[in-house]
Amino acid sequence: MSLLLNPKTYGPNFLMSEFNTNNIVRFENVGLRYGFGPEVLQDIYFELAAGSFHFLTGASGAGKSSLMKLMYLAMRPSRGTVSLFGRDIATTPRSELPALRRRVGVVFQEFRLLNHLSAFDNVALPLRVAGVRESELKGQVEELLAWVDLKNHMKARPPTLSGGQQQRVAIARAVIARPRLLLADEPTGNVDDRMAYRLVHLFEELNRLGTTVVIATHNQQLVDRLGHPEIRLSGGQLRLLERSDKTRQSKIKPGGRPIAPFDPEVLDYL
Ligand SMILES: Nc1ncnc2c1ncn2[C@@H]1O[C@H](COP(=O)(O)OP(=O)(O)O)[C@@H](O)[C@H]1O
Ligand SMILES: [Mg+2]
Repeated sequence: MSLLLNPKTYGPNFLMSEFNTNNIVRFENVGLRYGFGPEVLQDIYFELAAGSFHFLTGASGAGKSSLMKLMYLAMRPSRGTVSLFGRDIATTPRSELPALRRRVGVVFQEFRLLNHLSAFDNVALPLRVAGVRESELKGQVEELLAWVDLKNHMKARPPTLSGGQQQRVAIARAVIARPRLLLADEPTGNVDDRMAYRLVHLFEELNRLGTTVVIATHNQQLVDRLGHPEIRLSGGQLRLLERSDKTRQSKIKPGGRPIAPFDPEVLDYL
């Protein structure tokens, strides 16, 4: 698949040098509570190595979306340290946070498309924000929309599309600018099995180009078949499930090894 994505558009310097780090995400002793409620996330320690690919699992209400919100900076933790691209969020000046955030592609569980814009314009938005010329972005957006089977719906506004179609627009928007970190919250919840695999292959392709990927999902069959490492939330705690021996469920420890190996070849793309 050639669509993901034309590296010439961005060039090797598209990412700021300050982003050079092996750990894309690092959580240390993180706890999160809403208001005066109980902690929904407790003592979370983990690191996501550059170029890694993880499934995030856990029952409904386990805290998957909350963990994602911390990673895309929509919330601050109640305690502990969250670092993104090597930067401690608590000590990074507010003015520098949008630049970090722009390197994160997010597929929201509830899509969050702009209803007054066409599918094409929703997907084009991150490229326009990045200053890509119209003549360059047109082909990319059309190719990606065709790949997610929306060739005939480019001009449609989201309210006229089905849930599954809106989800695919949201996914195309999240990946079009080749984010450094892709967070997808239940991205296959509204599509059939064939499309679910197709979408995950899109994420794998992006991952091959250097993007670190985390997919929150309920679909255990997808997780088991594809064989990427699985991190699971339960009881507010995060555990890495070993693929070879899922019953081991070793708890992720502070200062432990990154949970996926660092692959220098993948970093060549960054
Ligand atoms: N905005 C919020 N205000 C209060 N409680 C919330 C809020 N968002 C989520 N929660 C609670 O936090 C817990 C984790 O929710 P969530 O992160 O959405 O889990 P998941 O995505 O795994 O289903 C749940 O008990 C949920 O009710
Ligand atoms: Mg959720």
